[in-house]
Amino acid sequence: MKAFNGKTAVVTGAASGMGRALTQKLLSFGAHVVATDVNDDGLKALVSGHSGNGKLTTQQLDVTNQVAFTALIHDVAAKGSLDYLFNNAGIAITGELKDNVQSDWQRTIDINQMGVLYGTLAAYEVMRAQGFGHIVNTASIAGLMPAPMLALYAMTKHAVVGLSLSLREEAKVYGVRVSAVCPGIVETNIVGVEQMQKLKLGNDSPFDFIRKRTPVRPISPDQAAQAILAGVVKNLPEIIFPLHGKLSVSTFHNARRVWELAVAPGLKIMRGK
Ligand SMILES: NC(=O)c1ccc[n+]([C@@H]2O[C@H](COP(=O)([O-])OP(=O)(O)OC[C@H]3O[C@@H](n4cnc5c(N)ncnc54)[C@H](O)[C@@H]3O)[C@@H](O)[C@H]2O)c1
Repeated sequence: MKAFNGKTAVVTGAASGMGRALTQKLLSFGAHVVATDVNDDGLKALVSGHSGNGKLTTQQLDVTNQVAFTALIHDVAAKGSLDYLFNNAGIAITGELKDNVQSDWQRTIDINQMGVLYGTLAAYEVMRAQGFGHIVNTASIAGLMPAPMLALYAMTKHAVVGLSLSLREEAKVYGVRVSAVCPGIVETNIVGVEQMQKLKLGNDSPFDFIRKRTPVRPISPDQAAQAILAGVVKNLPEIIFPLHGKLSVSTFHNARRVWELAVAPGLKIMRGK
């Protein structure tokens, strides 16, 4: 994709999953990527695996630290321009809402919602001054429909969609673009061991469970990154992928009863009932 050649992009949550794949793809397209994450070891691994096109800079960043996030964005812009911000970092805390505790709510809101807001505010300021730029906020299909056993996650992802689509309209007059990324199921490290244990799936990962029990086929982070960047080039408002994600959202909105019937068996298993 020629659109990214020579452009500067900040990616959050770049040490794993879709953030890592986005970083690698952007580099392969000749971009300068400022890859950030709380996980410094993951960033080091990214550097050691980098060769060829593009320029890679890494910096440890916790997206819940507004001061550090704002400083990073201003620093990147001051050295040239900020063409893209990929607000990708996120976590998923599983389980029934009744069993989620205060620290679960707080962490989910701090990272998934406030982290995206902090990045958006900082990038919007420098991009307005530049007169161009694209803010790409990763939500989820759980930002467009419910996600039982992931209610906190769904709450924050709906917030990201609301923020992004509202700002998209406000930002047009300043030449700034905003998109919401809404992936379906992507096989990454997002559901760690601790969260997996809360779902009663035995030895299966959530991805194995989905493969065994449903027609849904999780996609790879690389496929996801390709879909995201293709959507960014087209400046789509919502970048929804793959087909299973589009179908889930449209079934929920157009055939609610079918969606409820499809979700019920998996939900029963995850609750261990
Ligand atoms: N995997 C899926 O099926 C799926 C589906 C829809 C949306 N998403 C979203 O995609 C995004 C990327 O997730 P992923 O699936 O690649 O997960 P992942 O766990 O593989 O990667 C997430 C990265 O975010 C980093 N991170 C976590 N907290 C952070 C913080 N406070 N500051 C900075 N970095 C932090 C982690 O260290 C990790 O490297 C998330 O926003 C997630 O909610 C994932």
